[in-house]
Amino acid sequence: MRPIIPDYLAEVLGQVEPDASGEPASYIPELAAADPERLGAAFATVDGQVHGAGDIDVPFTIQSISKPFAYALALADRGFGPVLAKVGVEPSGEAFNEISLESSTGRPLNPMINAGAITVHSLVAEAGSGPAERVRRVLDGLSAFAGRRLEMDEKVCASEMEHAHRNLAIAHMLRSHDILTEDAGAVVDGYTRQCSVLVTTRDLAMMAATLANHGVNPLSGDQVVPEGVVRQVLSVMFSCGMYDAAGDWTTQVGIPAKSGVAGGLIGALPGRLGIATFSPRLDSHGNSVRGVSLFERFSSDMGLHVM
Ligand code: DON
Repeated sequence: MRPIIPDYLAEVLGQVEPDASGEPASYIPELAAADPERLGAAFATVDGQVHGAGDIDVPFTIQSISKPFAYALALADRGFGPVLAKVGVEPSGEAFNEISLESSTGRPLNPMINAGAITVHSLVAEAGSGPAERVRRVLDGLSAFAGRRLEMDEKVCASEMEHAHRNLAIAHMLRSHDILTEDAGAVVDGYTRQCSVLVTTRDLAMMAATLANHGVNPLSGDQVVPEGVVRQVLSVMFSCGMYDAAGDWTTQVGIPAKSGVAGGLIGALPGRLGIATFSPRLDSHGNSVRGVSLFERFSSDMGLHVM
């Protein structure tokens, strides 16, 4: 039988490949060294089939794409009330590394920006857990979403920690508002480890498919987080996942999504499929240039806009 989806993916990859605009993230030296020409795309269906083209088995760090999954784990571990008390669900309209705290409470506006994600990291695992237990819970949880054991890239983690002044400043602000109630440096260290988990485009498609499949990993059949948690996560991805480009994305592409500064991008279509792309050149919002183009094509070619 003719492999229709891989042929289609290869054709669309070929069309976006000549676009050499944007640069790999430079504020983490290890990421600046990434091969900017890498390009891949994969679809994972809710019944576990993966169709891909290009560099779909090349590992890279998950970065901010960890944020919706860590948010899911925190909601599952602590419940909605305690998490919403510390992190809101409103789009910030600002860059991912802006402080973006509510002026009266110091609560970060949403879990997709760094301020919210650093706070969310402090809320995974049972109340009272220490830094090592949280990192273990994040790694186990991300692995359950992927359906295979994932690892961390210690070099990228160390490289980011050496330059984490801005995230440390944000964490100290959160600590001053009692949004964080423990050592700010330890939370940033754990959050940076979370961002350093290695994934492939294939993994990301499967992680997105787990969200699309109402929290059940299509390979293992495990219910990774409850269905109500997934609804909350996809809603926040829809309104906040692409930072200050979220409005353009939601109107033009219309798929709940999340980007990462290593060049990954995921989208999840409830009941249908998970999509992932990888291309390290980023636009001014920190989103992959060719990844955004690919999603625009997928959405218009296949009528994937959820509205
Ligand atoms: O907090 C940071 O700066 C990074 N570890 C993650 C940022 C990121 O991926 C932003 N997304 N496009």
